[in-house]
Amino acid sequence: MSNRSKVFITRPIPDEIVAELRETCDVEMWHTSAVSAPTAEKIGPLDGLMTYGHELITDEMMAAAPDLKVIANVGVGYDHIDAEAARARGIEVGNTPGVLSDATADMTFALLLAAARNVVPGNRLVQAGDWQYYDPNILWGQDVHGSTLGIVGMGRIGHAVAKRALGFDMKVLYNKRTRRPDWEAELGIEYAELDDLLARSDFVTLHPPMSDETRHLIGTRELGLMKSRAVLVNIARGGVVDHDALYEAMRVGKITAVALDVTEPEPIPADHPLLTLDNVLVVPHLGSATVQTRTKMVQMARDNLLAGLNGRPLPYSVFQ
Ligand code: DGY
Repeated sequence: MSNRSKVFITRPIPDEIVAELRETCDVEMWHTSAVSAPTAEKIGPLDGLMTYGHELITDEMMAAAPDLKVIANVGVGYDHIDAEAARARGIEVGNTPGVLSDATADMTFALLLAAARNVVPGNRLVQAGDWQYYDPNILWGQDVHGSTLGIVGMGRIGHAVAKRALGFDMKVLYNKRTRRPDWEAELGIEYAELDDLLARSDFVTLHPPMSDETRHLIGTRELGLMKSRAVLVNIARGGVVDHDALYEAMRVGKITAVALDVTEPEPIPADHPLLTLDNVLVVPHLGSATVQTRTKMVQMARDNLLAGLNGRPLPYSVFQ
């Protein structure tokens, strides 16, 4: 009987990493063969699973996999994996923290600037052939420099966003379950309760992990507290914002603009009401999507996978 580990990878990863894994494992990869997305049946015979597309991994699926030793997620957020069930079953779960903070903070600023300065409507206008003469009275946006930024969920990504904001001479407020006096001293940022932060900020960026506590953290009441000129950026998880409340707020122009890297559900259906509004910018979950960062994330996931298969502690375990 073969002692090679059986591994399933849910999305294509670079060829050289697949080749490396194939030296010791039998590897199947979704989207490069007729293999389908994870199901209990698919996971059943596996020793290792690499998730790369937020595929739901439930306790029921793990129950069907007596040999499963490790789930290596490519990404820092792992709310799509029932990690507590995995722990109870002795299955290791790894993620890729830290490596994507800067790329995600860059994207936060790309969205913030694009929404503040009408980058997408401007491009749309030009592409439609509607730029007939220089009109100084169209597409006025909001100053980013010198404004106040409120960061909700101040972890590694929030910290990287704050550093960028200082380069734009922004005043930075943050909200987090546990205060970070060290970061307040390092960056000159100010802690604020959520309602206070929402009321005082010109820009609000969302970065909390998805949990029962953060589900619909931003709803009608919270949007009602924001300034009418405010811009909201969600780059955390779609479920952090109540999309029905958001649609209604954006429809009546309650705040100036919203930029979403993440939606609920994902992908957002093409006929979703939010997509009919000019003050709503949506991109398809691109937060960490750069060549350099995604490559490093896959390398970290490979390290987690191989460690778990070989009974070694994961270098990046979610249980640490
Ligand atoms: C993350 O790292 O959690 C991103 O959403 C990409 O998966």
